Amino acid sequence: MKIRLQQSASAKTEMSVVLVAEGDAPQLPAPLSACWDAAKSTGDVKTDAQKASVFHPHAGPKRFGCVGLGKRKDVDTERLRRAAAVAQAIAEDRGVRSFELLVDDAMFGKASAEEAGAAIAEGLVLGAYRYQPPKKDDPKPRKGQDCAVVLLHGDHKAFAAGFARGEIGAEATVFARDLENMAGNLCTPTVLANAAKKLAGNGVKVKVLDKPALEKLKMGAFLGVAKGSSEPPKFIVMEYGPASAKETVCVIGKGLTFDSGGISIKPAAKMDEMRYDMCGAGAVLGLFHALKNGAHKGAKQNRRIIGLIAATENMVGPEAQKPGDIVRAMDGHTIEVLNTDAEGRLVLCDAIAYAKKFYKPSKMVDLATLTGAVVVALGHEVAGVLGNDQKLTDELIAAGKAADEPLWQLPLWDVHKDQMKSKFADLANINGGQGGGTIAGAAFLSFFAGDTPWAHLDIAGTAWGGIAKDYYRSGASGTAVRTLLAFVRG
Ligand code: BES
Ligand code: MN
Ligand code: ZN
Repeated sequence: MKIRLQQSASAKTEMSVVLVAEGDAPQLPAPLSACWDAAKSTGDVKTDAQKASVFHPHAGPKRFGCVGLGKRKDVDTERLRRAAAVAQAIAEDRGVRSFELLVDDAMFGKASAEEAGAAIAEGLVLGAYRYQPPKKDDPKPRKGQDCAVVLLHGDHKAFAAGFARGEIGAEATVFARDLENMAGNLCTPTVLANAAKKLAGNGVKVKVLDKPALEKLKMGAFLGVAKGSSEPPKFIVMEYGPASAKETVCVIGKGLTFDSGGISIKPAAKMDEMRYDMCGAGAVLGLFHALKNGAHKGAKQNRRIIGLIAATENMVGPEAQKPGDIVRAMDGHTIEVLNTDAEGRLVLCDAIAYAKKFYKPSKMVDLATLTGAVVVALGHEVAGVLGNDQKLTDELIAAGKAADEPLWQLPLWDVHKDQMKSKFADLANINGGQGGGTIAGAAFLSFFAGDTPWAHLDIAGTAWGGIAKDYYRSGASGTAVRTLLAFVRG
């Protein structure tokens, strides 16, 4: 999907699509105004949100499409994003190679011109996305499409700024989705590390630490998880921005390219979905994809952004760690591994320790498909956020709101931390039947964050499995890339 902004409607296109709110008459230039009048006179124009209608006018473009926005007062960024995705879908359905999308700030409702520009770019790019699975016969290549977006009335400068950042964020999300959707044997820690290495350049630096380096760093918790797999673990370090920056933000991703549960093995049903257990890593990689493509250009450069990913499989090989084993994390904490399936926190705790030791960050955020419990608590449309610093948590909630990727805070109190103490070590990796599984995961990590401002996003519900919504069909959603972008934008 190629998208661009265009100054005015050309009407020589294969298809013109307009977004229309209930009761609105779009102010279109000739000959499109005649197309609208003709379409309207049929009584077939649908203005309910996400509803589309297509007409074949006598003059002007070959096809004239209308996509509904519902009531104008209800229009927001999510509506606009979905409407743009519907426009892309009706064009693709009809085999159209290039089309124009005509919008007007009168129909942006609650969204500013800047927000509308971003949402529309996102809807087009994300809506066009399909995962291309490996097949014996190469599938017929989908006809790539070109879409020219025309802002008929409104603040062109603000709209263009939003459009540019929306495109960068959506392309980064598509990049994340592609890695996330790959089967566990196709996207190994090594494949993830190689994908990261390709992001080097244009201000992004990448290095990958192999097992011997991790042993030297004494990352016993991370290595304990990796022991059960024949795939070597990889620790990915990505840097953006000058080392002299006033503020350093570390963004840390759980990169379990497959989680069988280990010796505390998972049930067979849906175990294949544990290919998605690297979606935290996917979000971090997506963020750096966007940074490489200029997401942060022009922003205040007194901020450095560090991406860290602990990538491994959790398997049951002969060397696999056993329930009850004691491991020592990089920062010295000993951990009783009571359940080998609570492995995400074991890889993250060493990544957090690494962040603190080498970057002394002003803020840390980790993203992880950490608990099934968060799916029970919040479902697939809201991610959980917990942390040790309310200001940082609030910043993330605001970023999630701006990206239409909502976050909901769960409590993390001293009493929850007390539940993580072990008789045989400093900490246990589960809370021993106390319930509140999502809180327990965060409580465990809080010991490693110490007093560095830190927040934890549990994206196990939102990373996949949500309902289809025009710009998302099925499989990995590429969640949190856009939230992270909004967060680092500040
Ligand atoms: N990757 C899983 C979490 C998960 C499970 C995400 C199901 C989405 C769907 C994680 O590593 C895990 O297994 N967590 C355990 C923790 C438990 C053993 C304390 C869980 O949620 O059951
Ligand atoms: Mn697990
Ligand atoms: Zn896991």
